[in-house]
Amino acid sequence: MIGHPVSTFLPLNRSPCRLRVGAWSVDAVCAALSDRHESHSGLAARLAEELVATGLDVPRDVVRVAGVPPSGRPVAMVHGEAVGISVSLSHVRGVVGAAASAQASIGIDIVDPAETGRQLDAFFTPDELALAPDEDGLLRGLLWSAKEAAYKAARLDVGFSPRAVAIESLAGNGFGWTVNGPHRLVSGAGGFAWAGRHIVAIAAAPLPTAGVRSGTRGTLVAPTPAA
Ligand SMILES: CC(C)(COP(=O)(O)OP(=O)(O)OC[C@H]1O[C@@H](n2cnc3c(N)ncnc32)[C@H](O)[C@@H]1OP(=O)(O)O)[C@@H](O)C(=O)NCCC(=O)NCCS
Repeated sequence: MIGHPVSTFLPLNRSPCRLRVGAWSVDAVCAALSDRHESHSGLAARLAEELVATGLDVPRDVVRVAGVPPSGRPVAMVHGEAVGISVSLSHVRGVVGAAASAQASIGIDIVDPAETGRQLDAFFTPDELALAPDEDGLLRGLLWSAKEAAYKAARLDVGFSPRAVAIESLAGNGFGWTVNGPHRLVSGAGGFAWAGRHIVAIAAAPLPTAGVRSGTRGTLVAPTPAA
């Protein structure tokens, strides 16, 4: 176990949970993929759309979450206009997750700890591997999920380079991170949860100042349909 056990649990039944990540409030939801006709990507986007619709108090069918080229980073739109809610998606075999926040730029990542062993060691620094004892064999899964979540939250829209994402602390449910992008450094906080046997990491950073509406849940105003 790393220092303290991860004690937050996200049910796999599409029930949203409000989590505190650093100084920010983040809504997260996970689901097991039960319908053979639905894609992992499609279900994750749908869960994010439900979070945004609830957060903005608008009908679900006017919200759309889609990846923006060239990076693939998802954005939330209402009536086709981007809104100031950060969304993030993740999926592994059989499990999907989504997160949304009006307070922070966020990233979610789900990993199967059985698939995050020593083969990943080239992506970790000695400092990262020394952050906590690895008594339960979870350290690499926690570090990897934290790196991917931090990359998504950093919104740099450059390719994912695991060594450019530094996990600086691991304590209990939380982690601290910095992403060294080509033009700027982004730092933030993160939290871990369990979704079944999967590790979920959620990273958060201050919203970029330009081009984002200020305010928290309840003060955002959704666009109305074009006349
Ligand atoms: C982000 C990334 C590391 C996640 O990979 P992963 O952990 O295997 O997959 P996850 O299921 O956890 O996450 C996938 C989701 O991440 C999101 N995502 C993709 N690119 C992203 C980015 N740049 N920033 C934030 N989120 C991103 C998408 O919502 C994606 O869902 P989709 O596949 O349904 O569209 C991988 O998608 C990636 O390397 N993206 C960068 C692509 C790139 O290099 N683009 C060109 C340079 S700008």
